[in-house]
Amino acid sequence: MSALMNMRLQLKYDYQLVIYSCFARLGSATTPPSGPTGEIMQLTETIESNAARRITQASRRPATLGSTPADAVALSMGEPDSGTPRVVVDAAVAALHAGRTRYTNLTGDPSLRDALAEKLTSSAGRPISSEQIVVTHGGSAGLAATMLALVDPGENVLIPEPTYSLYADHAAMVGANTIWVPNRADGGLDLEALEEQAATARMIVLCNPGNPTGRVYSTADLDQLTRILRHHPELVLLADEAYGDIVFEGTQFRSALSFVDVADQVVVCSTFSKSYAMTGWRVGYVVATPDIASRVNLLHRTVNGSINTFVQDAAAVALAITDTDLRETARSYQLRRDLVVAALDGVAGLSMLPPQGAFYAFVAIDSDLTSDEMTARFADGGVVVRSGSEFGPSGEGYVRLSFATDPDTLREGLRRFLVVAGQITHPRR
Ligand SMILES: Cc1ncc(COP(=O)(O)O)c(C=O)c1O
Repeated sequence: MSALMNMRLQLKYDYQLVIYSCFARLGSATTPPSGPTGEIMQLTETIESNAARRITQASRRPATLGSTPADAVALSMGEPDSGTPRVVVDAAVAALHAGRTRYTNLTGDPSLRDALAEKLTSSAGRPISSEQIVVTHGGSAGLAATMLALVDPGENVLIPEPTYSLYADHAAMVGANTIWVPNRADGGLDLEALEEQAATARMIVLCNPGNPTGRVYSTADLDQLTRILRHHPELVLLADEAYGDIVFEGTQFRSALSFVDVADQVVVCSTFSKSYAMTGWRVGYVVATPDIASRVNLLHRTVNGSINTFVQDAAAVALAITDTDLRETARSYQLRRDLVVAALDGVAGLSMLPPQGAFYAFVAIDSDLTSDEMTARFADGGVVVRSGSEFGPSGEGYVRLSFATDPDTLREGLRRFLVVAGQITHPRR
């Protein structure tokens, strides 16, 4: 068949499909058109599970995640600008050549789990065994599997916010109820509100260091949180520590792995994505008691099977990157954080709590516009940021800037940001 004929057939088919969709929406029974290759096209909107519907209804995540208009500066993505370290790439290539292309253990390749156990034992200051570790398809799948493994439909999940938007989608997927618990104005946890809700909840999901705020929760807040856990033995803490290696000078980050007296109620989820600039490799891990880990593993392997063998070999090599090098990377983000703080400091109508970790600034904008409207205005002005309302109800009135980009691009993005901010904030309107 000629290319022209193919195109004509496709156009005819598309046209038939539009007509059919219109009738289907009106409730009339018509026969779906046959596709150019003869198959019957199904209308996706008529085939949807309750889980899909729940996620669609609950999700605050934008549909256009990741798209950036041409010529715009993207301060939107949570992705390190540096490439994956060469040593990690080389390890993956070597593993491929060595034939590490077959299925491996469903809980994670034993050598990676052992390497993780050794590293976590030294960072947590207490023994962590490989039975406590599940290697996951990025942090996202670790979070999803944990929620699926530990939370039932109808149960309550407490989510201190503003926070990473995926947690509420996972709760919706499970059929659980998201209970948003806004943080205090100073960025700390509202422990009274958490305590009040604790008796009715199955899980608290904590993002520490925080996306989108860069908040690192204080030891005092975390002590109180462990007290709540002690009072409520049925409550589980899911601590997402994706940014645990990106903490700025003067700030003390305390991992939930150190919550020894409530260790059987704590699940820590992490990822290679941010620390090692490995977002596209899709490898992360969950740490819990052996018992909980085996349940998380059951759910994770049911969806994902085993994780790519050669990727796990490369991840084991990434773990050998020294703490000094990781601190150096964190320091490079800190310098960019300083650029953002300096650029926004004292600008009328803008305010923010200085980020203590991760690579985001969460900026309050004194404007009549909603966060979504502001985000659209910034995009028109050539700088893409994320709407604050994506990160929970109290994110309304904010936008999130990612500073995981090179300093020159960041400076240009900030310049454009300030131009638009000057047009939409109250004082100058
Ligand atoms: C707080 C947090 N947790 C988890 C993830 C997901 O990590 P991954 O890319 O490894 O799935 C992200 C990604 O942006 C994140 O910001």
